[in-house]
Amino acid sequence: MKISLALAFLGIFGALSVVVAEDRYQYFTWVVTYGTIYPLGVPQQGILINGQFPGPRIDGITNDNIVVNVINKLDEKFLITWNGIKQRRTSWQDGVLGTNCPIPPKSNWTYKFQLKDQIGTYTYFPSTKLHRAAGAFGALNIAQRSVIDIPYPAPDGEFTLLVGDWYKTNHKVLRRLLDYGKKLPPPDGLLINGQRDSAVFPGQAGKTYKFRVSNVGLSTSINFRIKNHSLKLIEVEGAHTLQDTYESFDVHVGQSVAFLVTLNQPVNAYYIVASSRFTGTTVLTATATLQYAGSGSKASGPLPIGPTTDVDWSLKQAKSIRLNLTANAARPNPQGSFHYGTIPAVRTLVLANSEERIGGKLRYAVNKISHMNPLTALKLADWFNIPKVFSLNSIPDVPPPASTPAKLGTSVFGITLHDFVEIIFQNNEDTIQSWHMDGSSFYVVGYEYGVWKPDSRKTYNLADGVPRYTVQVYPKSWSAILVSLDNKGMWNLRSAILPRQYLGQELYLRVWNNEKSLYTEANIPDNALFCGFAKHLH
Ligand SMILES: *[C@@H]1O[C@H](CO)[C@@H](O)[C@H](O)[C@H]1NC(C)=O
Ligand SMILES: *[C@@H]1O[C@H](CO)[C@@H](O)[C@H](O)[C@H]1NC(C)=O
Ligand SMILES: *[C@@H]1O[C@H](CO)[C@@H](O)[C@H](O)[C@H]1NC(C)=O
Repeated sequence: MKISLALAFLGIFGALSVVVAEDRYQYFTWVVTYGTIYPLGVPQQGILINGQFPGPRIDGITNDNIVVNVINKLDEKFLITWNGIKQRRTSWQDGVLGTNCPIPPKSNWTYKFQLKDQIGTYTYFPSTKLHRAAGAFGALNIAQRSVIDIPYPAPDGEFTLLVGDWYKTNHKVLRRLLDYGKKLPPPDGLLINGQRDSAVFPGQAGKTYKFRVSNVGLSTSINFRIKNHSLKLIEVEGAHTLQDTYESFDVHVGQSVAFLVTLNQPVNAYYIVASSRFTGTTVLTATATLQYAGSGSKASGPLPIGPTTDVDWSLKQAKSIRLNLTANAARPNPQGSFHYGTIPAVRTLVLANSEERIGGKLRYAVNKISHMNPLTALKLADWFNIPKVFSLNSIPDVPPPASTPAKLGTSVFGITLHDFVEIIFQNNEDTIQSWHMDGSSFYVVGYEYGVWKPDSRKTYNLADGVPRYTVQVYPKSWSAILVSLDNKGMWNLRSAILPRQYLGQELYLRVWNNEKSLYTEANIPDNALFCGFAKHLH
């Protein structure tokens, strides 16, 4: 009797402690509307979240549960994707057309996800209908829990900078150009937090601040710098790096980085500059101000010089970014792939991007397939075994001969859960690329000029490459990544360069095993939207 009482008590206590230890919830209601904005001095229609451009910042702590009710008041279907958020076991919340049916106009949908084991700098943005060209993007910063150490002294403050190229043209007009098979014109400017030259970041002499910088643009790589101040790199997309110091730093589309900046100069105001990379002789520039307390003046004098068209410079800098192997704070639970250099890859995918004309219209392809999103979200088709939506390995593992005609298709690789895969992004075009993977971070092991061949593996960094979600590929070059695909689901691998993705430079990785278990994949959410052939399942 006594024993069973004690056991019962333990049972209750156990249940209670589970409740007490439950991770924090943060609830948001986001109303998405059109509104007039003036980022380049002329009025234009933007997409606002709760009246804001850029959208509201989410400040999370590792393991927070995030609940966002998105109310779509636009005249078009809408979705938000969470760039670099792992969505562990639940591609249902990823917010891309392959995993979610878009939220119809005049209705709402609630995302629920956990910021599991991630510390760092991330963003969100709309994944539908070129909406990113009008706004609705924002920052998602994740801080460590108090029990977790970070490999640098706590900064005295932090700033979040969303940098990107910008068009004065309405997103529907831009979209129509792409739909007609035409290229977009060059962008009209660059913005820092929605402003061309007026954002101010105030600090005190002698103190050190964290600057989180993300490229939220459509297609332009940027160089970032602060006059007379050096940038100590501490993080790229959730990985703590060796803390090297840079005068200026390249951030490619979709990427996020964080620096420590010490205000060690005379009290004054200093230019913060973002300028376009690889845009020929037309260099776009946005400026902001680092304002020391006690300085009434405005930043003045010449802007600090940065690289413009030089590729070697950028390649060299990219290779200098390495993981701090003794600092694991950004990965409190490394999933066994920490010693990635010793794990044999079971499959190699060589993904070559190309610019194509299909039916006389501009398209972009990967291994000669230009992806089209079917009306039925791939994840729904997979879950309910709806035939004829996609077939696995509808895209070849290696590029076919360059003379092969490109065609439209639905590109899905079938990957076995926990497979360790090598992916080479082969760029035979003369423009820079940026690739983003949803659901898993990957180790970047090499960047080189030319065409990748098996022998190129000799150049890999198998010791301290950095795990991240977005990797650039230089013109006429390749970038190689290694990734442990241990997140079951349907995951988007896309060009972060929006017009390319919109016209087909993307695909899906269906990471799968036959075990049906909540430990490997969450059930379809109760509130799931249904579309295409799945509509009747509603
Ligand atoms: C839509 O919003 C209402 C509250 O305004 C909420 O009760 C409901 O769950 C939301 N619907 C979905 C599908 O998230
Ligand atoms: C790496 O991390 C360790 C442990 O947090 C820290 O003490 C060290 O300064 C870091 N090293 C470099 C070179 O960034
Ligand atoms: C600040 O930078 C400019 C170049 O951008 C240089 O000419 C000047 O000497 C620097 N000032 C100090 C105090 O380092």
